[in-house]
Amino acid sequence: MAESASVDWDLLHAKATEAMHHAYAPYSAFPVGVAGLVDDGRIVSGCNVENAAYGVALCAECGMISALHLTGGGRLVAVACVNGTGDALMPCGRCRQLLWENGGPGCRIMTSTGVRTMAEVLPDAFGGTDLDAFNKTRP
Ligand code: THU
Repeated sequence: MAESASVDWDLLHAKATEAMHHAYAPYSAFPVGVAGLVDDGRIVSGCNVENAAYGVALCAECGMISALHLTGGGRLVAVACVNGTGDALMPCGRCRQLLWENGGPGCRIMTSTGVRTMAEVLPDAFGGTDLDAFNKTRP
C-alpha cells in the first residue's frame, strides 16, 4: 500500500477511539488512543499506560509501535491519535520521533486542521540517515 493510497480516516479514527477506551490513565485522567494503517493493510493501535512513578508512563504511540512490530512489522502510512473526547491529538515530540522511525516523512497524520505529513509535523528530523552519514566518516 503506497503512501498515496486512499486512507479510510473514519475507520482509523474509530480504531483510535476504541483503543482510547482501554487507556490506563489514573494519574492524568487524560486517556489517549492511536491507530495506524500499515503498508500491508493492517491496522495497529495502542493506548497510554501510566504508572505511579509518573515519568515512566507509556504514551499510546509506544503501545502502537510495539504492536506494529509484534504483528509483523512494516511501515506506517497513516496515523490517527485521539484524546478522551475523540478529538485529534497531536503526538508529543518523543512520539513524533517514533512515528518518523516507523513511517518516515510521507506518513500521514490526522490533525485538528486536516491531514498532514510527518515531514510537516517533524521538520528537519533526526533519523537513521544521520547515523549512517556519521559512520561513513569513521575509519
Ligand atoms: N500521551 C500520549 O499517550 N501520547 C501523546 O502523544 C501525548 C501524551 C499521554 C501520556 C500521559 O499518559 C497523558 O497523555 C498525559 O500526558
